[in-house]
Amino acid sequence: MPPTLKSAVTISDATDLDASQLLRLFNQAPWAKNRTVTDAQAMLDHSDVVLCAWDGDRLVGFGRVLTDFVYRATIWDVIVDQSYQKQGVGTELVQRILNHHRLKKVELFWLCTSRPEFYKKLGFSSKEQTGMVWSLSKQARAE
Ligand SMILES: CC(C)(COP(=O)(O)OP(=O)(O)OC[C@H]1O[C@@H](n2cnc3c(N)ncnc32)[C@H](O)[C@@H]1OP(=O)(O)O)[C@@H](O)C(=O)NCCC(=O)NCCS
Repeated sequence: MPPTLKSAVTISDATDLDASQLLRLFNQAPWAKNRTVTDAQAMLDHSDVVLCAWDGDRLVGFGRVLTDFVYRATIWDVIVDQSYQKQGVGTELVQRILNHHRLKKVELFWLCTSRPEFYKKLGFSSKEQTGMVWSLSKQARAE
């Protein structure tokens, strides 16, 4: 039985999301807490699909996709406000991405996560490929 989404929460494509609202969510995650409004706004401007979960005018969840709309899509920054977790919001966000009308042709969705069990329940597998990461904070760029 899929979890029931808290009735007050609605999920929609982001249209004019203000990056400062997003920072309140990012501040709850160790991997995103040092992000700035300027960089987050640039990230929003260059993301292909952005979904938000709202409780009224309060942003309570977020997820975004970078994609070619045909072969590959990567899912990034899925996050739910701590006080709204374990109510089905995260599951609904990911399912909305996988079934999004602009992503219908995509043959492979990819993500990196510290929560593999959450994504396994949504059909993701870690067996087929090995993900590798190049991190600016750990490497120097060639001049
Ligand atoms: C990972 C994350 C996005 C999940 O969001 P969420 O809204 O809590 O997700 P859901 O509520 O859909 O599912 C989470 C759990 O709650 C359970 N759940 C869902 N609805 C429920 C309900 N109505 N009652 C009780 N439990 C419920 C789910 O079964 C799931 O159980 P599990 O932890 O055993 O897998 C959220 O924990 C988060 O933002 N974490 C911090 C950021 C992060 O780590 N992001 C992922 C890195 S890529």
